[in-house]
Amino acid sequence: MTQPIKGFSKLSKEAKIEWLTDQYFDNSEAAIELLKSYWHQDPKTQKLHDEFIENTLSNYYMPFGVAPNFLIDGHLYSIPMAIEESSVVAAAAKSASYWMERGGFKTSIISTKKVGHVHFIYKGSAEKLESFFKKVEPKLYADTESITANMRARGGGIQSIKLINKTKDLEDYWQIEALFDTRDSMGANFINSCLEQFSQSLQREIKLEDSFSEEERNIQVVMCILSNYTPECIVRAEVSCPISELNGDQGISPEEFAFKFERAVKIAQIEPYRATTHNKGIMNGVDAVIIATGNDFRAVEAACHTYASRDGQYRSLTHCEVKDGQFRFWIEIPLALGTVGGLTRLHPMVKFSLELLQNPNAEELMSIVASSGLAQNFAALRALTTTGIQKGHMKMHLLNILNQLEATEEEKEEIVSFFKDKVVSHSAAVNKFCELRGIENPEKVKKDQ
Ligand code: MEV
Repeated sequence: MTQPIKGFSKLSKEAKIEWLTDQYFDNSEAAIELLKSYWHQDPKTQKLHDEFIENTLSNYYMPFGVAPNFLIDGHLYSIPMAIEESSVVAAAAKSASYWMERGGFKTSIISTKKVGHVHFIYKGSAEKLESFFKKVEPKLYADTESITANMRARGGGIQSIKLINKTKDLEDYWQIEALFDTRDSMGANFINSCLEQFSQSLQREIKLEDSFSEEERNIQVVMCILSNYTPECIVRAEVSCPISELNGDQGISPEEFAFKFERAVKIAQIEPYRATTHNKGIMNGVDAVIIATGNDFRAVEAACHTYASRDGQYRSLTHCEVKDGQFRFWIEIPLALGTVGGLTRLHPMVKFSLELLQNPNAEELMSIVASSGLAQNFAALRALTTTGIQKGHMKMHLLNILNQLEATEEEKEEIVSFFKDKVVSHSAAVNKFCELRGIENPEKVKKDQ
């Protein structure tokens, strides 16, 4: 029976580990050893990681790979990707080379505004609040001047502030909606600080209004928070080429490939079951770069999925057109990213990733991430509409299977070479492994897996 604990966060790291392993593990010694084996050898670097979050016990490794040959707006990038799923980096690299030979990725930044709200309850006359807001709006800018000074010096700041009447959707519900330009920072702290100041200014100023009743003056601020939905922070990335230059792969003609590919995108436009998997594949490419560059992949995920359902139905984030002998394939997604602040100068691997990308500004990083998402979707649809996804996927997964079986390096080499021209399945891999080891009952090994 495990026991609850008070004051866990106050314990030292060692004491936390001791308590936990004692409570939850039969072999606490082994659990402690495992956790410690993932500590960084340099105590200073470990301390840095410990302090990123709370109650840190150890580090959680994730493979860090790179997809070279991404030609984006005329610049050649090697894109860093942190992801645990096999095939994703290979798919990105394959797409990158394919499109490098056909002009590369062309991107444009459609908008870069971020948004936040003061959500509040006001019981009273709408006209009175609206005319009061006009009067108070300059004060909202003035009261946030010290918060926005640095951002304004960098060319950003508050872009607009407006009052929104939401009482039709929810009784007495109003918003102050503000748009922000946060330049190269993601800007969450900046936005939230401004919003909290708006809330205070609003409550202070309305108290001074004699024309308002007591109830009207008693505005209740429910919360002040940025929105991770950023439909005004959009990037577009596109690839295109004459249909005749589409090398359809695996014996299918360029025309048939273009037709099937376009259909696949159209299916994801109209069928939410397919759209979800289609967009998941896009997010493989997006999240891996977001994580490698120290950005918030949960925020980006949330924004992309809301954007994908902005007309009321969940749809594909990519689009395809096959017309007048041309193949065009593009993505349009909201990406609120930062290349300064947050983890960007703290996490050594994030610093490395940004340097590898030649220290992009936020807009350049938007272009890189969107291209990675598009590349990933191209690779998935190319495989799905030709050979099927499992052929390549299982080849990449073969090493995971062999590692699970604890195959030696020689065994791995021999088995990988055996499957070069064969279809990989979990069962076939185990059979081959057993054959090599002279194990008579592969079924038992499969059951143990
Ligand atoms: C797997 O992680 C992603 C795919 O399922 C995406 C897709 O189906 O488009 C291959």
